[in-house]
Amino acid sequence: MYICLCQGVTDRDIKASIEAGAKSLREVQANTPVGLNCGGCRDSAKAFIDETLEQRAQTLGYAA
Ligand code: FES
Repeated sequence: MYICLCQGVTDRDIKASIEAGAKSLREVQANTPVGLNCGGCRDSAKAFIDETLEQRAQTLGYAA
């Protein structure tokens, strides 16, 4: 699923960035170009990142 159409960034790209240690939109942007063109996806990208971090924390058994 594309999160950022301008840059062709998918949910998998963002999850991979989070698995590599990113914990915010800014940190995900160090690994992907999400939100760096029109900016229209930034709110949904942030929501997806927060949701993924929360799910990951629950899976690993600690608070986000
Ligand atoms: S849709 Fe992501 S920067 Fe435009």
